Amino acid sequence: MGKKLYFVTNNSTKSRAGYLKKFTQLGLNVQPEEIYSSSYAAAAYLKSINFPQDKKVYIVGQEGIQEELDLQGIQHIGGLADADKVVGPLRAGYKVEQDPDVGAVVVGYDRYINYYKMHYATLCARENPGCLFIATNCDAVAHITDVQEFPGAGAMVGALKGSIAREPILVGKPSEFMLGDIAKSSRLKRHEICMIGDRLDTDILFGKNGGLSTLLVLSGVTRKEQLLNPTNSIHPDMYVDSLADVARLAKLAGLVPA
Ligand SMILES: *[C@@H]1O[C@H](CO)[C@@H](O)[C@H](O)[C@H]1NC(C)=O
Ligand SMILES: *[C@@H]1O[C@H](CO)[C@@H](O)[C@H](O)[C@H]1NC(C)=O
Repeated sequence: MGKKLYFVTNNSTKSRAGYLKKFTQLGLNVQPEEIYSSSYAAAAYLKSINFPQDKKVYIVGQEGIQEELDLQGIQHIGGLADADKVVGPLRAGYKVEQDPDVGAVVVGYDRYINYYKMHYATLCARENPGCLFIATNCDAVAHITDVQEFPGAGAMVGALKGSIAREPILVGKPSEFMLGDIAKSSRLKRHEICMIGDRLDTDILFGKNGGLSTLLVLSGVTRKEQLLNPTNSIHPDMYVDSLADVARLAKLAGLVPA
């Protein structure tokens, strides 16, 4: 139908290239520009504010953020390299010297978070003048395995919010930054963009807040009972049982060859 397609994810553990690999393995023909991960958003945000070449990012997060910063030519430390570090003997006179060139702390989901990283990130954010505090997303929990929810990036961001004692800049789905970037590059007006998602309180709510049209699919988190419940105040423009229905409806409407 000639529509442009963007895949938007809060998950920062992979870069766009990482997701591309996943799409390819699933047999889907997707271009890197069609993928908006919160790891990419963090790097693109820094680029958009002309983050100085001589400054560095301290990462509390995984390879997705590292790879995206590399692609934008932004120096970084921390991340996976600090996975095994521990704070030294906490006795009189012990201190950690943070790199004064760290101009931003970027926090995302990090299964290797530890007290050393929390200390280092806190030092940078509190002691380095003008140091930014950026969060890729704040998801409370994530379905890391198929049988259980695990603490999401909200746990890491929450811990650092506690010690840095200010609010982070959020770049995840679908922040103003991301929506603006998509609208600009696709040359579309907000209402010409449809946000498709499976969660009322995130996908659909933010789609509506961003002035997009919205389509809820019932094959994920939100159940039909929740949607139609009189207490629900978030109403998508459209809803279907499953994403597969979109293709079926398009065929029925004669928009694509059957
Ligand atoms: C992020 O996505 C990967 C798969 O692409 C998955 O293995 C991982 O559990 C996800 N992490 C979070 C925090 O959702
Ligand atoms: C994604 O991140 C935003 C913050 O950037 C958060 O408000 C939202 O709940 C997150 N989760 C989803 C599924 O969109």
